[in-house]
Amino acid sequence: MTPSLEAALASTAELVEQEIGLLLPRVDLAEAQLHEAMRYSCLGGGKRLRPFLVLQSAGLFGVSTDSAIRTAVAIEFVHCYSLIHDDLPAMDDSDLRRGRPTVHRHFDEATAILAGDGLLTYAFEVLSDPRTHEDPGIRCQLVAALARAAGPHGMVGGQMLDLIAEKQTFDIGETTRLQRLKTGEMIAFSCEAGAILGRASPPQRSALHKFAHDLGLAFQIADDLLDTEGDPSVTGKPAGADAGKATFVSILGVDRARSQARLLAAQAASHLDIFEDRADMLKAVAAFVVERRA
Ligand code: IPE
Ligand code: IPE
Ligand code: MG
Ligand code: MG
Ligand code: MG
Repeated sequence: MTPSLEAALASTAELVEQEIGLLLPRVDLAEAQLHEAMRYSCLGGGKRLRPFLVLQSAGLFGVSTDSAIRTAVAIEFVHCYSLIHDDLPAMDDSDLRRGRPTVHRHFDEATAILAGDGLLTYAFEVLSDPRTHEDPGIRCQLVAALARAAGPHGMVGGQMLDLIAEKQTFDIGETTRLQRLKTGEMIAFSCEAGAILGRASPPQRSALHKFAHDLGLAFQIADDLLDTEGDPSVTGKPAGADAGKATFVSILGVDRARSQARLLAAQAASHLDIFEDRADMLKAVAAFVVERRA
């Protein structure tokens, strides 16, 4: 990772952490456990890749930091909800996330389900608040696009396919669709959110869309490679959890999956040429996504 990318990721993580702390305060209420579980899942970990993509894409269009960070955090809330539910016994049954016990392990299953529900719905409360953008039309576009990316035609649909693929053989085309829905759509929205906030032109939006499409697939291949070869003390989650799942690694093998991820990352970066050097950080993140260790 280049030093400037490392610094930019670290400063995004700090901003995100601060904003989450403000949006998810501790409460002194009978249901405090719900709020604690939401905070537990969102604070103190994670690469904050999706927020980084929002801030960087927003930066291309001169969007205010306030708008960009609230949007970024709304996406991170949905992401953290998806991780809580993904780890549940009925899904991946995982005990470790971001180097700590998963939410259902630290609290209990019912609290984990509710914390996920709470984060998902709260994300839309944040997006639809006038503090996110003064124009209700823009807020409405953000809400619609996040709902689409996270819902049955996006992440949730992909999660269903992921479970179905444990009992059925998926070919490369079906696996690609599964991964695009499961991970790609939320990554795509993270890149497009900046374009929505900044009222980007259709060619600019299309460039970001193509970038995000290739980046999302490259990202998920890297995630699958980390399941095979990653070090749990670095990834913060168990290895070998994908046995029996449809992944690029199970279909292509480690070497071909890695070269496919590298190819996709290079292709992703090339879509951003229209932004010239203003997109250098986004291009750097494409390279990082496939070489990452966590
Ligand atoms: C993990 O996402 C889940 C997938 C979509 C593969 P990340 O690798 O971005 O997880 P964090 O946010 O850094 O913990
Ligand atoms: C989950 O994919 C993607 C989500 C929508 C949360 P994985 O099951 O591969 O994610 P990890 O490996 O547990 O982070
Ligand atoms: Mg899963
Ligand atoms: Mg999982
Ligand atoms: Mg995985």
